[in-house]
Amino acid sequence: MMICKTNEQVEMMRQSALLVGKTLTEVAKVLRPGITTLSIDRMIGSFIRDHNAVPSFLHYKGYPFNSCISVNDVVVHGFPGDNQLKEGDVVSVDVGVILNGWHGDHAYTFAIGNPGDAVIQLIKVTKEALYKGIEKAVAGNRVGDIAFSIQEHTEKKHGYGVVRELVGHGLGKNLHEDPQVPNYGKRGSGPKLKDGLVLAIEPMINLGKKDVYTEEDGWTVRTKDGKPSVHFEHDVCVRKTKADILSDYTAIEKAEKENPDLFSNY
Ligand code: MF3
Ligand code: CO
Repeated sequence: MMICKTNEQVEMMRQSALLVGKTLTEVAKVLRPGITTLSIDRMIGSFIRDHNAVPSFLHYKGYPFNSCISVNDVVVHGFPGDNQLKEGDVVSVDVGVILNGWHGDHAYTFAIGNPGDAVIQLIKVTKEALYKGIEKAVAGNRVGDIAFSIQEHTEKKHGYGVVRELVGHGLGKNLHEDPQVPNYGKRGSGPKLKDGLVLAIEPMINLGKKDVYTEEDGWTVRTKDGKPSVHFEHDVCVRKTKADILSDYTAIEKAEKENPDLFSNY
């Protein structure tokens, strides 16, 4: 069942999405070689609680951390830990909050130092693909139109692997609502998009092949070929002529540029 939101509810959800963005901005300020992903996770938890919200991933289906921090060949759902980030790492940080009963859930991928031309291109193209998908999030289109655009740009145009096992989703009072939003598919297929539907669109794109596996911990998803993977996610409200992006990368990108330990020359 797809639940469309009222204008008032969409404004509440915007606040949730913006709090996630503020959290990711704090992350962008502290990322550097030597920092542990667990210390970032702790900072994320405190920042969210200091803003009268709850980290929504913690305890979700037993997930044991505030955030997902996925480094290099980890696609998504990486456990924060005492591993230190190092020059050349590609780091996806995925954060969820519940603020006043409404979920925000989005993600950004950072590169520590210089990850090399191939990874730089992968990061750039994955972010572009997210926006190409968002352009299709207008009422009357179908989920497959979003999916097709993302697949076109990443797989067909650049030869990257589009992860099949994990998808974007509706968002609202629950972290995962209908519809599922795959990053691959056929134009004109799937559920029809309606005004007021809020979606988390989240391309997960591999430099190499599309195949992934889940580790023994039941969460950590890695590429089978060991090559890096990139993940960007925005919360978007479907509207009649143009999608309304509820989350905002502006402050994250500014912090990324101002942090000399992060690559930002995309
Ligand atoms: N952005 C991810 C998703 O929508 C985050 C979920 S991680 C979990 O599925 F820990 F909450 F499961
Ligand atoms: Co999500």
